[in-house]
Amino acid sequence: MNHLVAPSLLAANFLHLQKDIEMVNQSEADWFHVDIMDGHFVPNISFGFSIVEQISSVAEKPLDVHLMISNPDDYIGTFKESGARNLTVHFETCPHLHRSLSNIKQHGMNAGVVINPHTPVEFLSEIVADVDLVLIMSVNPGFGGQSFIENTYQRVRRLKELLLRKNSKALIEVDGGVGIHNASQLVEAGVDVLVAGSTVFKSEDPGQTIKQLKHL
Ligand code: DX5
Ligand code: ZN
Repeated sequence: MNHLVAPSLLAANFLHLQKDIEMVNQSEADWFHVDIMDGHFVPNISFGFSIVEQISSVAEKPLDVHLMISNPDDYIGTFKESGARNLTVHFETCPHLHRSLSNIKQHGMNAGVVINPHTPVEFLSEIVADVDLVLIMSVNPGFGGQSFIENTYQRVRRLKELLLRKNSKALIEVDGGVGIHNASQLVEAGVDVLVAGSTVFKSEDPGQTIKQLKHL
């Protein structure tokens, strides 16, 4: 399949959020990536339900919601109501991961699991058959604009092998430090979804940058 591009709204201008969302609507982007941070699991706070709801009222493409929060199970229904299409929880925050993912699916959303840079991809071997999406963090979660961790390429390749072995149809997504300089290599390694925040929103012509990420 052709890879997807998901601009991360964390890097958008919150004083002109509607304008940035409309730019993404009109671009070749596939999803909106929406980062939720709680100041507990990660050392930063982003935004909550009311903002997600407002994003959803203007967005014409699916919301790919990345939860960087402790106790994500408590909020699954509320994120559904706020407009999430994909809901992705951190492996590191879910002691009962299978239950969390089932709960996401029961709410009619696509279920994703995300791993921090230090978590071996092999820890997902018993769950990949049950997920729609695996997100590999290519930076430590919590902030936009960080440098890409080079070790990510081999993690993507190992995950791809694992998915094939387990007959999983899950998409592979990469998040953090993604740009024009590494996007082709990531897709060659097996990435299906590129998340890009600063690369898109801090560029001169964000629509054109999305196009470049889409046509590598
Ligand atoms: C980081 C977030 C990312 C962030 C990526 O914790 O999960 O989605 O917005 O930002 P860039 O693309 O600037 O590294
Ligand atoms: Zn993210």
